[in-house]
Amino acid sequence: MTTPHSDSPFLAACRAEPHDRTPVWFMRQAGRSLPEYRAIRGSGSILNTIADADLSTEITLQPVRRYGVDAAILFSDIVVPAHAVGFGVDVRPGVGPVIDRPFECRADLERLRPLEPETDTPYVLETVRQVVADGSVPLIGFAGGPFTVASYLIEGAPSRTYGRTKAMMLGDPELWNALMERLADMAIASLRSQIDCGASAIQLFDSWAGALSPPVYERCVLPFSRRVFEGVADTGVPRIHFGVGTGEILHLMADAGADVIGVDWRVPLDVARLRLGPDTILQGNLDPAVCLGPLDVVEAEVADVLRRNGDHPGHIFNLGHGVLPEMDPAVLAHVVDQVHAHNRGS
Ligand code: CP3
Repeated sequence: MTTPHSDSPFLAACRAEPHDRTPVWFMRQAGRSLPEYRAIRGSGSILNTIADADLSTEITLQPVRRYGVDAAILFSDIVVPAHAVGFGVDVRPGVGPVIDRPFECRADLERLRPLEPETDTPYVLETVRQVVADGSVPLIGFAGGPFTVASYLIEGAPSRTYGRTKAMMLGDPELWNALMERLADMAIASLRSQIDCGASAIQLFDSWAGALSPPVYERCVLPFSRRVFEGVADTGVPRIHFGVGTGEILHLMADAGADVIGVDWRVPLDVARLRLGPDTILQGNLDPAVCLGPLDVVEAEVADVLRRNGDHPGHIFNLGHGVLPEMDPAVLAHVVDQVHAHNRGS
């Protein structure tokens, strides 16, 4: 018997094994850039959409059908576990996560009890099972990095400065460590449950880690991200680690133990391998904004990303961050075709 998707270019690339075409998927491929998403999403909080497994399955599969991408990403959100244990989180359309009573003090730890995925997020597990049953491509499960989730819980709303978060991290390390430990364990529980239900790979989105200096990242965040990767290591599924603006901390992120490092467009893939080592398996890194430009420019930039990877078998093509709502799906479909047509020379 072969394991599911044993011939998948995505899974082969995650392990730098030989395969015949460069795999591609897009962060935020399921979402507002797709008319078929807008047609079924409805209004109100995205958390209600996520709680409907049939709807979430359909939304997860929409970009797979439209673009022919090599992997599906679960339709959910990084704040779902905190919401599910009753922390008081909502996701406001056009704004992002907002918190009723932000995390401030030791007593707030009590509001973050351990996640029990089977009872707290049954709809997530059902979505994973349904997408896996569809079977067309491997499913990527995910969780938010402890730092990025903590930043939402502490700030109470999306922030540009992370002032309160940094104040707690530096001013009350004991409380910070206790919070990060809980969020790491929540991420582990969520990821393990997604893997148990059939997710083929996982990604830790530590989207805003690039806001930190290397020494602060190393002391206050790295141990907890490492804890997450160690906490799912025995499952054997490929583990991807991603953040935005992480050029200066890339070597530290790589040290957290993931198999694949996601890079944004600020660090060209060849430069990333100079920093991390020639064998590093990378995911990325077309600047999403490029896709708003003329098609010949898009093609040239896609070709540049592929050229900078060279013939390395450990490359998963992606954007450097998520799909923008105003993107034309036809452009993304064109990117997928171009990446698939590229001769990797192996
Ligand atoms: O296609 C996919 O990538 C799968 C689904 C997915 C969503 N959120 C759905 C969503 C994933 C992987 C996420 C992760 C997520 N959520 C991250 C990490 C990824 C990243 O972009 O860095 C972060 C930081 C969040 C928090 C969050 N949720 C933000 C900042 C927003 C955007 C607010 C807005 O409306 O601009 C959300 C809402 C959200 N999550 C949307 C989607 C499709 C858009 C809202 C909608 O349809 O109402």
